[in-house]
Amino acid sequence: MGLVTGSSNAIICALAAARNTLLKRQGYDLAENGLRNAPAIRIVVGADAHSSVKAALSVLGFGKAETEIVPTDEFGRMKIENVPELDNHTLLILQAGNVNGGSYDPIDKLCDLAKERGAWVHIDGAFGLWAAASKKYRYLVKGMEKADSWSTDAHKTLNAGYDCGIVLCRHRDEFTAALQASGAYIQYGESRDGMLYTTEMSRRARAVPLWAVLKSLGAKGVEQLIDTLCGHAEHFAAGLQKAGFELVNPVFFNQFMVRCETERKTEHVLHEIQNSGICWCSGSKWKGESVIRVSICSHATTREDIDKSIRVFCQALH
Ligand SMILES: Cc1ncc(COP(=O)(O)O)c(C=O)c1O
Repeated sequence: MGLVTGSSNAIICALAAARNTLLKRQGYDLAENGLRNAPAIRIVVGADAHSSVKAALSVLGFGKAETEIVPTDEFGRMKIENVPELDNHTLLILQAGNVNGGSYDPIDKLCDLAKERGAWVHIDGAFGLWAAASKKYRYLVKGMEKADSWSTDAHKTLNAGYDCGIVLCRHRDEFTAALQASGAYIQYGESRDGMLYTTEMSRRARAVPLWAVLKSLGAKGVEQLIDTLCGHAEHFAAGLQKAGFELVNPVFFNQFMVRCETERKTEHVLHEIQNSGICWCSGSKWKGESVIRVSICSHATTREDIDKSIRVFCQALH
């Protein structure tokens, strides 16, 4: 496990390990010979992957044209029947929690498929991987333990404050080899050296706030936090539907999208909400159309706050 700024960097670290390992399996040493003459590896990713995944691929030397994009369903989940044949030089990138509607790729089935063929699976679970800590929501990430690497944030669902990204990898030696050069002046400790698991040497002690949050909440507290955020999302969505908003997706986790009858109305309502001073939501585009994106992510939000916010939405609509 490495502690980094956020998921954007965590994804870069994990995909670097994946890239180097997949090349090594073909007998190619990237650190020695460079990317330019490397044999091909395949990248398979869902059409609704987060922009930071696309950025990470670009940083690591993979262009859009060589990425195999898997079509997604109306909620943003990869369609299994459209996943191309996988093999042992393929990197399959899955998503646990879409930034707009919170949907999850079919992780369990796709991990099985990938494992059968020897592909590397990475799961981007910036906010959604935390579903694993809740008995009620862990079905969403069923099978996630079969992946090779994972990225998530303690500064999102866990509320640990910026910046606190987490990268995890099953293959320790491959992971550290991908991220490290060596420096003769470095004195390695006898216990774990955190810098070996990130791209950075000088870093703040992110383990301290992460530890403090986990220690103070405990497993039960983390579960309660997740169940509360998701419960608020369900209550919020039900209230908005009752008030006449169209719910664009079911509430999978702690966020969802709504819209009005017309694009113009959606944008007007969003503007009113953003200026209300009561709650704040961002606008987004979903399958080309404007939506209001509602995400409940603060431990301090109460049921009363949600009810007040529903009233703001209603006032803006009417
Ligand atoms: C699914 C997903 N992946 C990656 C990221 C990037 O995370 P960060 O802002 O911590 O770099 C986000 C941010 O919202 C996200 O929702």
